[in-house]
Parts: sequence; structure tokens; C-alpha cells
Amino acid sequence: MPEYSDDELIIRDLHARIEDKEILRGVNLTVKKGETHALMGPNGSGKSTLANVIMGNPVYQVTQGEVIFKGLNILDLSPDKRARLGIFLAFQYPASVPGVTVANFLRRAYDARKEGYDPSKEGQQPTGEAPKRKGTPPSVFRKTLQGKMDLLKVNNEFIGRYLNDGFSGGEKKRAEILQMAVLEPEFAILDETDSGLDIDALRIVAEGVNALRGPGMGSLVITHYQRLLNYITPDIVHVMFKGQIIKTGDKQLALELEEKGYEWLIGEKITE
Ligand SMILES: Nc1ncnc2c1ncn2[C@@H]1O[C@H](COP(=O)(O)OP(=O)(O)OP(=O)(O)O)[C@@H](O)[C@H]1O
Ligand SMILES: [Mg+2]
Repeated sequence: MPEYSDDELIIRDLHARIEDKEILRGVNLTVKKGETHALMGPNGSGKSTLANVIMGNPVYQVTQGEVIFKGLNILDLSPDKRARLGIFLAFQYPASVPGVTVANFLRRAYDARKEGYDPSKEGQQPTGEAPKRKGTPPSVFRKTLQGKMDLLKVNNEFIGRYLNDGFSGGEKKRAEILQMAVLEPEFAILDETDSGLDIDALRIVAEGVNALRGPGMGSLVITHYQRLLNYITPDIVHVMFKGQIIKTGDKQLALELEEKGYEWLIGEKITE
């Protein structure tokens, strides 16, 4: 019997550090496809670190634990292989790429995602040169893209602009969500840590996530604020503190946190 299912991402006893500072101190979390989990917690508790470690940011060293997805410990894979497998991270501050249009960027990303990652084919490609790719013909991709644009109410002018170049906060969010729609991730992480998200940007994120929610995608929505969860109703809410998940509940937990803050919870933990 395999100890994993293709339908879940399993984080087991994950420890990670930066330089000599341990930030994640034993995170355990399972997200099944079709579920939306919210991750909350005070500043500096390790939420963004968890997102970065799942995606493979090399700044963080994993010292213990595993992250299992599709039967693989993805911690052994480069970030691009993780993305090809279907893991997606929406950044709070995505980089701008002047000279590359949104449409072209999305087509490249779409092709890589479609190609996927098959560990059994590892090593078969000649090293030192890029594998030859045919890629999706622009006209075919355009149809796929148009469907996603319609779904997310993105206009034509938007995809002709250079990626994130001079974009407002809301437009950057729109580009991230459009990317998520095109890549059709099986596991999506949205790091909405910043309070600078205005109500329009919040709606863009929420409407996008809700439009893409479905049995094929699990998501982890990181947020400080209950107000995002007014738009995206989570199935499960977790609270992280000092690098561990100290409480898990349903959406009532988020409401309780909104009302009472974190102190009661942290106090409860300390006196346990
Ligand atoms: N690149 C880094 N260099 C140094 N310290 C870091 C780095 N990334 C994270 N840390 C430290 O790790 C701890 C956890 O940070 P993290 O950003 O994961 O918290 P967070 O829960 O996302 O906080 P916030 O709610 O403010 O977004 C903090 O003490 C932070 O200073
Ligand atoms: Mg953060």
C-alpha cells in the first residue's frame, strides 16, 4: 500500500532554517484536492517561509521532514519541477519583466506546465542543452487563454502589456491569478500577507480563487485578515505560531481570531 495519495499534499515534521535561525519547527499539514485551507498567524510566525519552502526557495535550508506530492518528496526537486508537477505560488510582490508581454509569458509557462515532470524520464534528455520543444501554436494557446480571460473578466489590452511593468497592485494580482488559471495547478499557495491589499485587489484574488476552486485543486491561502475569508470561505483554518501549527479549526476559528486576536490562543498554547 502506498502511504500517499495523488489527491493530497502532505507536509510532515517540516523544519527549516535561515542561517542559524530555525523558523519552521515541525510543521504538519495535509491539504487534499478540492479543499481550501487558510493559514493565519501573527507576523513573523513562519507562514511565508512555509510557502517559500514548499516552492523551493533556496534561501531556506530544510533540516528535517518531508513534503510529499504525487508520491515524491518534492523537497528533492528544483522549483521548476515542482511547478511542472502542479504546484503554484502566487507572490505578493511578483517581479516585473519589461519586454515580455503577459500573453507570451503565459504561453511559455503553459507549455512548461503541460510538459509536466516525469521522474522516470529523468536523465534521458541530453544535458547541457535545452530540450527541443514544439510548444503550443499561438492560435491554439490564444483560445485557451481567452477562456481563462473570460472567466476572470480580463480585457484584451491587459495581456498585451509587459508583465507587471508599471502594474498597479490590483493589476499584479490579476496577472498572478490569470497565471494560476492558465497553469491549472493542483496545489496553489496564495501568500496574501500584506495589509496593503486594497478592497479591489482583495476581490480580484477572491473572485479568481473562487472561479478556479474545484475538485482538481487544493489551496492554501495565507492571510492576516479575516476579511479575505469573507470572500473565500475556507474549509479549514490553521494558526501558525513560532514555526508550528498550534491550532486547526473551521471558519469559525477565523471569526474568533478576528474578534479576540491571537493572545488567547498563544496563552492557551503556553499553558498547555
Ligand atoms: N530571508 C530571510 N532572512 C532573514 N530572516 C528571515 C528571512 N525570511 C524570514 N525570516 C525570518 O523568519 C521569521 C518568519 O518570517 P515569515 O516571513 O515566514 O513570517 P510570516 O508569518 O509570513 O509573517 P508576516 O505575517 O509578517 O508575513 C521572521 O522572524 C523573519 O524575520
Ligand atoms: Mg509573510
